[in-house]
Amino acid sequence: MEIRIEAHVAHVAVSAADVLESYVRSGPVTLGLATGSTPVPTYRELIRRHREEGLSFARSRAFLLDEYVGLARSHPESYYSVIRSEFVSHVDLADTAVQSPAGQAADPEQEAARYEAAIRSAGGVDVQVLGIGSNGHIGFNEPGEHLDSRTHVGLLAEQTRTDNARFFESIDDVPRRCITQGLGTIREARHLLLIATGAAKADALAAALHGPVTSDCPASVLQLHDHVTVIADKAAASRLQRAGCGAA
Ligand code: F6R
Repeated sequence: MEIRIEAHVAHVAVSAADVLESYVRSGPVTLGLATGSTPVPTYRELIRRHREEGLSFARSRAFLLDEYVGLARSHPESYYSVIRSEFVSHVDLADTAVQSPAGQAADPEQEAARYEAAIRSAGGVDVQVLGIGSNGHIGFNEPGEHLDSRTHVGLLAEQTRTDNARFFESIDDVPRRCITQGLGTIREARHLLLIATGAAKADALAAALHGPVTSDCPASVLQLHDHVTVIADKAAASRLQRAGCGAA
């Protein structure tokens, strides 16, 4: 596992964009994209490189990690909408090349199975961008999730609903269910790129990287993967133990 600790969020974005750019330039690539606020500066940096440096996503395709159940695609907080407004609409990544679970599917369980199969039939994900929840979730795999789970319908933890209420008018508007890639699904991506910024992530990041591998901290499955890059700012890295990584 490579851990990069950067002084500022802007440096985290550049460092994460460097990892993604190397894949995008190498040929046809399948990206795994996270939503939420953490990767937004990275997506902005990729958009800048597209506009100013000719970075092209024309040979890329992408799968999202998760989606809220019950939100229409047109809802501004559906992850279908968010990934377009924050990233896809600003680069030459074909809209049809970006897939996500359908949160309004009549049968969400069946939709989860369909999405899992779609990822597999695409040959899997080459590099998966991950954020981390303040409770240690990745995707929407909440504490207690089986470490080998596949794409499934899940219940959002109350902590997650509270954390994500900032995107909605009130907490009552935050959906209770989601479709998320499972921990086993995420672990099949060939390279995991976890981005963490801000002091609110410090405990979760330390538990994920230094604690036991346990479903109590879903992100601890990173320890089971042989190609992981963690990029954190100083605040998120403040509880990491490895002084040699520059956390001081
Ligand atoms: C989003 C996702 C989540 C977020 C996590 C952190 O697609 O899967 O795991 O990465 O909740 O969210 P932010 O970045 O908003 O703190």
